[in-house]
Amino acid sequence: MTKPKHILLIIGGGIAAYKASELIRLIKKEGMTVRCVLTDSGAQFVTPMTLAALSENEVHTTLWSLKDETEMGHIQLSREADLVVVCPATANLIAKMAGGIADDLATTLLLATDTRVLAAPAMNVRMWTHPATRRNVEQLRRDGIIVMQPDEGDMACGEYGPGRLPEPPAIMAEIMDQIGKSRPGASLLDGQPAFAPDKTKSLQGKHVLVTAGPTREPIDPVRYIANRSSGQQGFAIAEAAAEAGAQVTLVAGPVNLPTPAGVVRVDVETALEMEAAVYDALPADAAVMVAAVADWRTDTRAQQKIKKQKDGAPAPLKMVENPDILASLGKHEQRPGLLIGFAAETEKVEEHARAKLAKKGCDWIVANDVSGDVMGGAENSVHIVTASGTEKWERLPKPEVARRLVAKIVEEI
Ligand code: C5P
Repeated sequence: MTKPKHILLIIGGGIAAYKASELIRLIKKEGMTVRCVLTDSGAQFVTPMTLAALSENEVHTTLWSLKDETEMGHIQLSREADLVVVCPATANLIAKMAGGIADDLATTLLLATDTRVLAAPAMNVRMWTHPATRRNVEQLRRDGIIVMQPDEGDMACGEYGPGRLPEPPAIMAEIMDQIGKSRPGASLLDGQPAFAPDKTKSLQGKHVLVTAGPTREPIDPVRYIANRSSGQQGFAIAEAAAEAGAQVTLVAGPVNLPTPAGVVRVDVETALEMEAAVYDALPADAAVMVAAVADWRTDTRAQQKIKKQKDGAPAPLKMVENPDILASLGKHEQRPGLLIGFAAETEKVEEHARAKLAKKGCDWIVANDVSGDVMGGAENSVHIVTASGTEKWERLPKPEVARRLVAKIVEEI
């Protein structure tokens, strides 16, 4: 019989700590074992007794337990796990992890582990959007730690926005996805300097910029213009490029997807924010513009909810065109060496894509027929249109389209 998978669950100090109990229940329901480490501040919200009863395992709280050190050293505690899960990952824990600080049991384990680490953040919206936290999260993702996107909604403190702990079933789904995968970069630790470049990686030393997902153009405080893009294809391309050794910047519109390992993610909402983030990320050796950028936005964003008009008159909206980020990059003085656009078409796919190639000044257009269930679906059917001809690919899962496209980028650059 194979040994059940084992989770080391690190519980930080936030109001969401109580949800760790639900997560333990879900982990055990999957037939896995779980051992909890509780920080001092976590213990203000949930008791060791509750966690011990639910996990059916001893709960560890301090670095200085002689009993624990003789029975199981803290290094072993961190390494016997198949996955380390930090839930909730508070702003403080994230900052310590990003800085390599090890001043209690939880942070010492996180620094000592060679196992994959998944962090489920929970904090006040201002803390989540603070530049210091943005920087720290980016650093963790660069270090190969999987940091989930927090949920958006009402917060315990009365504010509204992103920062809520993802719901336990969503964390559980991410655990199932990550368990058993090796820690990114961990293989380099075997007898080699930890940060030595891996010469076998074909995009080593190259910077690849990817845009993904929709943009969301606010009309008033409660309404916005958006589209059905799920971001899956762009995220898969970012992941495949990172696997090939590239330094990857992923500028993502509002999507509900985890950040691929080793990718620096910049979250944006509107087309204007996406444009600024793309320019900030330059220079790049290749740019793959997969985002479904909204073509229009309203000329102003109403401060108050727009009321229905008298006599059923239409809403008083004036639309203006958004900048075409791909086209402006095509003319930019720091134009990436290889510039790739996407074209979602519902008819005359190749013809329209070829026209777009010239109009946008890019090198390739990946044209996809979105007349079926491609948008939001798991598969894609694409044509690669270049100056020298068109390649028609069969319908493939989006990760496979991503791998083949990255292989083609490798050949090109
Ligand atoms: O013109 P269309 O929207 O069909 O072009 C699609 C391509 O252009 C995609 O690569 C998309 O990311 C990019 N695009 C852009 N900025 C826009 C509109 C599209 O970068 N405002």
